Amino acid sequence: MYRTDSNYAPLNDGKHFQPDMDVREKLDFGLDETIPKYWLDGNPFRTRLMDAMQVTFPDGERYFITAVRAFRDQIEDPTQLEDVKAFTRQEAQHGIAHTKFNNLLKKQGMPIDEILSEHKEIIDKYLNEYSPEYNVALTAAFEHFTALMAEAFFSKKYVSEGFDHRMKTMFAWHAIEEMEHRSVAFDVMQKVAKVGYFMRVWAVIYGTYETMRIMFTNGDKLLKADGFSKWERRKMFIKNLPWMYGRKGVFSSFTKPLFAYLKPGFHPEKIPVVHNYPAWVEEYNKSGDPAKACDALLAAAH
Ligand SMILES: [Fe+2]
Ligand SMILES: [Fe+2]
Repeated sequence: MYRTDSNYAPLNDGKHFQPDMDVREKLDFGLDETIPKYWLDGNPFRTRLMDAMQVTFPDGERYFITAVRAFRDQIEDPTQLEDVKAFTRQEAQHGIAHTKFNNLLKKQGMPIDEILSEHKEIIDKYLNEYSPEYNVALTAAFEHFTALMAEAFFSKKYVSEGFDHRMKTMFAWHAIEEMEHRSVAFDVMQKVAKVGYFMRVWAVIYGTYETMRIMFTNGDKLLKADGFSKWERRKMFIKNLPWMYGRKGVFSSFTKPLFAYLKPGFHPEKIPVVHNYPAWVEEYNKSGDPAKACDALLAAAH
């Protein structure tokens, strides 16, 4: 639910967990040319994979907004309407921040325009060829993944240890807000668009495939533009498999919640909010500084 006062009172009845949404605008992460090219531990593969993930955020988020707003006129519940508005405003802010970073990648000589025009074609295909119901189901699936970013990157200290602090700060803010609005697209899909179980499940399967395909294809393009040969890129991929999918892999924590999404009675609120979420919110509300809030989040991490 959208929060209109500063009292932090998350829903937690033992079965459902949901923080309130807060719209934080015009945050300054200090993103500029001094961010190292390989900002994740000096590691080209890991950095470019994260870059590849973030490159598609602004257009992806505009797509999510379009897919959800397609049902706005059918929403009768005023709280749900407020939630859609807050969701839209949060996603718009994410788009602005990630566009700023995309512009820095362009300055590094990365083929961002090419990647973005291909991405636009993919989104146009979704919007033109698929029904509004399937688009909102796909959005709910993608939103399930972004809601898991907080758990994957920030619930444990070691995952983000090698991140540049400014990048870490931006990703932490984004991850926190994804957690806050994780139910919005899902509720529009279920309560308003009346999407049934099979379409929801098919959308998450297709959405998983599309996410992986787009992320790895774009990551490979960025590494190619950095001058790495095909052989070098293959070697990097294999070498980093444990970092991605090992026991402590960054993407390994996505597996369990992905299967949870397949359960007929699934709802995002049934997944507990990341344990250190309150630390970020409390520090941000106190100082208004996303960098300090990020530090507080990680100080409270396992
Ligand atoms: Fe977002
Ligand atoms: Fe989102």
